[in-house]
Amino acid sequence: MSELIIKNVWKEYGDQIVLEKVSLTVASRAFVALVGPSGCGKSTFLRMLLGQEQPTRGTILLDGELLSAEPGPDRGVVFQRYSVFPHLTVLANVLLGKELMASKFKAKLFGAARRAAIGEARQLIAEVGLSGAETKYPAQLSGGMQQRLALAQALIMKPKVLLLDEPFGALDPGMRAEIHTLMKRLWDETQMTVVMVTHDMREAFTLATRVVAFERPRDRPEEKQRYGATITRDISIWPPRLAGQNSIYGPDRDDPVVSLGQYRDGPAPSGEK
Ligand SMILES: Nc1ncnc2c1ncn2[C@@H]1O[C@H](COP(=O)(O)OP(=O)(O)OP(=O)(O)O)[C@@H](O)[C@H]1O
Ligand SMILES: [Mg+2]
Repeated sequence: MSELIIKNVWKEYGDQIVLEKVSLTVASRAFVALVGPSGCGKSTFLRMLLGQEQPTRGTILLDGELLSAEPGPDRGVVFQRYSVFPHLTVLANVLLGKELMASKFKAKLFGAARRAAIGEARQLIAEVGLSGAETKYPAQLSGGMQQRLALAQALIMKPKVLLLDEPFGALDPGMRAEIHTLMKRLWDETQMTVVMVTHDMREAFTLATRVVAFERPRDRPEEKQRYGATITRDISIWPPRLAGQNSIYGPDRDDPVVSLGQYRDGPAPSGEK
């Protein structure tokens, strides 16, 4: 299970209200795409789901429990750039999460545990299509390969929730299409719930089970500080996509149809889906 419940969340920085009245329930194994104009608070929202930022008001629950105040292994993240460490090889980058976890208890991963972790890391590297690149450094990889590496680095911790902040935004179209296919497969085969910020509507509708838009209902210059953005659209992809149930209408279908019945103008009520 990996259900997220966001209840009436507000985020303020000093006098500026960035987000207000954000309520959203994300079903376990859903793939939510977050869209909205630049500066409306999408990354801020994702950082709150990660535990890097705290809401000013409201609560965020993961499987019924309040999110811990720090990022933990139950949440993985991939940013547009710089998610991987430039001074570590591909293999060391993927192993890092496991080593950091181990070092909490034992100082170092060693012996059988280390061999098992290396085996797991190599398998994941193969799954994201980077076999043979284990000893390379990120600077020796293309942008698409670096983002595959960032995905492997996040996935080795088997997160319940994978958070993606414009992860494919800097890639050229060919590479983006390839990584979309990989992303669909990873989502389909794992148990995770995915929340992805994107500027690309086609990407949102290609990958997601649900597209949620953030906007500022009041956006005149004098209103910018006093009113935040909130959810203004909540669109379920039709035919529905379900993880683990690959079918003709499953995650390989590239041209989803929007269910107009689910298209609404007002903020989504809390407790929805
Ligand atoms: N740590 C911070 N301190 C103060 N203000 C911040 C901080 N982080 C974000 N903001 C402000 O919050 C607002 C939302 O920023 P955010 O980065 O979440 O937007 P975004 O929707 O991700 O934009 P983009 O699409 O350009 O990435 C901006 O006005 C930004 O200046
Ligand atoms: Mg952003």
